[in-house]
Amino acid sequence: MRKVIAGTGAIAIAVAMSLAACSSGGSGDNSANDGSSDSGTSSAAPWDGDASEVDVVTWWEAGSEKEGLQALEKVFEEQHPHTKFVNAAIAGGGGSQAKQKLAADLATNNPPDTFQAHAGAELTDYIEAGQIEDISGLYDELGLRDAFPDSLIDRLTMDGKIYSIPSNIHRANMVWANPTVLEAAGLDPNTPPTSIDEWISDMAKIKDAGYTPITVGMAWTQTELLETILIADLGADGYNGLFDGTTAWDSDGVTQAIDHFAQIMAYTDSSLYSEDWEPAMQPVVDGKAAYNVMGDWAYLGLTSQNKEIDKDYVVFPVPGNEDVYDFLADSFTLPVGAKHPGGAKAWLETISSKEGQVAFNSIKGSIPARSDLSESDLAKFSDYQKDQMTAFKENTIVSSIAHGAAVPAEVSNAINDAVMKFAQGASDKAGLQDALVKATADLGSN
Ligand code: GAL
Repeated sequence: MRKVIAGTGAIAIAVAMSLAACSSGGSGDNSANDGSSDSGTSSAAPWDGDASEVDVVTWWEAGSEKEGLQALEKVFEEQHPHTKFVNAAIAGGGGSQAKQKLAADLATNNPPDTFQAHAGAELTDYIEAGQIEDISGLYDELGLRDAFPDSLIDRLTMDGKIYSIPSNIHRANMVWANPTVLEAAGLDPNTPPTSIDEWISDMAKIKDAGYTPITVGMAWTQTELLETILIADLGADGYNGLFDGTTAWDSDGVTQAIDHFAQIMAYTDSSLYSEDWEPAMQPVVDGKAAYNVMGDWAYLGLTSQNKEIDKDYVVFPVPGNEDVYDFLADSFTLPVGAKHPGGAKAWLETISSKEGQVAFNSIKGSIPARSDLSESDLAKFSDYQKDQMTAFKENTIVSSIAHGAAVPAEVSNAINDAVMKFAQGASDKAGLQDALVKATADLGSN
């Protein structure tokens, strides 16, 4: 399904990129280029211009997420010492706050120099609104055409054009579990359940032993749980069909998944429903709850609390998701009208460089978006991440709903609203399915 490009050409590309970085706007001299004096070139590319600074919007603002961004910032400062990094991060996991502020700023022609956006359907929102530049030419300039796997390039491309550069790939369908709690409930932490029904019966045992079986936080974390149950109940093909019209949202398979979702939600602690992912996961870390479904950014969350895999916690795919990689990728854009396009170019160079990808991903818990890293680069990753690199190559890839890969932001927002209404209301299963049908009504119709 995808091609992993292993080649030595990438090393030459990376060297050429670092050399280019040393001679381009980022480090030319001590007088900032104001973009108005772009003389010399007949047709300036949108990324040519002021490289004195770059303001970068992400949602890696708090907790462990901040540490990941700092790793990237460090490489950026080494590669582009004359471009000032301005951190414009907005807290809120999954971009819950950042995307709203961004939408308002883009609508009023006040864009940042670059911003984080998920590869896939979420990008189409910005592309269709004419808010981000086609940066296909930058792929040529930076020698990136063969750096990323085809499966990723496909999700970044629209009508033959590419509008962002990926920094990392995450897997969303993982269960993070406390082994001490599982043992207290008579369960073997090394033998995870293999079906949703089995998982639910384990939750009953955990509840009987006096622990919270599973935690969820704010709306998008609940959507993430729901998508993994849809994957389990529909299978990868059936799940993919939800986005191209070949699986109906009012089908029996979705009814079954909603029923499972309702049973699992009944085992959660509702006092956490307004929390971001890290506080919602904390009861698992603290030995008060058994399970949390989260993407592998949780790996950094746990590492930064000095928690060790297979000792302090265990992690396994959501039951029924064993051979499926629920994919999302962060990528960075060049907004139309950015004040410091040369700064944005410098940032895009760093996040796509081998150094940037290794430094960032090795601590963030993600896997590199580049598929051309050397053995010695890959040795810097944890066993968990190496397993996920293999999973990305060998498993079936599906796109995350909660993290912008499968559906446009408008649809994922409507799904979040439906799920939250379900959680806070009377757990109306038919009402949830109706709301999902309405939220997704325009999918697969074009
Ligand atoms: C995702 C993002 C990840 C991570 C996560 C939690 O949307 O792609 O990189 O930040 O949200 O905030």
